[in-house]
Amino acid sequence: MQRKIISTEDGSKTLFIPEMDEQYHSVNGALTESEYVYLDKGYRHNQSPSPVILEIGFGTGLNALLTAIEAEKKKRRTTYISLEKYPIEATEIEQLNYGSLISEEAEELFSALHYSEWNVKTEISPYFDLLKLKTDLTQFSFEELPMVDVIYFDAFGPDKQPEMWNEEIFRKLFAISNSNANLVTYSAKGEIRRRMERSGYISERLPGPPGKRQMLRATRP
Ligand SMILES: C[S@@+](CC[C@H](N)C(=O)[O-])C[C@H]1O[C@@H](n2cnc3c(N)ncnc32)[C@H](O)[C@@H]1O
Repeated sequence: MQRKIISTEDGSKTLFIPEMDEQYHSVNGALTESEYVYLDKGYRHNQSPSPVILEIGFGTGLNALLTAIEAEKKKRRTTYISLEKYPIEATEIEQLNYGSLISEEAEELFSALHYSEWNVKTEISPYFDLLKLKTDLTQFSFEELPMVDVIYFDAFGPDKQPEMWNEEIFRKLFAISNSNANLVTYSAKGEIRRRMERSGYISERLPGPPGKRQMLRATRP
């Protein structure tokens, strides 16, 4: 499917898929959304001293970039595993402006994240290891993963890609969640929340990022 680069409200760019009428981040601010939903409500909220993160959808690499920056700043050893079925192209990577909006170091980190090899665990920086798995979430066998502390559930919307949000997937994620692990997502749909609860998580609705009233965070008791 064809992808286009678009600008969002806070000046950061994102990708848009016209055929699906879906973008990779909120048009109200890609960087703002990522920072709020995944970093603030997920990574910083979780108390594990050396967390393992699982991301659903590596996409532009924005969540990974912000997490790598924070891991270095806080000297918090972090292992980041990300699943992606459709890696973006070098021409798209070059047009995304996250690094340049943040700092020169961020720009270098952003390239390192993208140009690291798929399916090989790579030390990106002293406190940040990355394992990008080129795979289809709906076919993925979760047994090969370690137990995780934070899940960034960043798939396309449940109305656009319902197969990514079914209960079986939440049950599999629950099975690899450590106790007190957190799953965060921008979606606040009641049915998604009930699927998380039926899978064993305790869920809560939190205020959402700009332009969204609410988001969800689930915790394994
Ligand atoms: C909303 S975007 C989010 C991307 C990313 N977290 C970011 O910050 O750019 C959803 C991502 O899920 C990926 N995706 C779609 N179907 C998938 C599947 N079946 N398995 C794994 N990833 C998939 C898309 O290619 C896209 O990169």
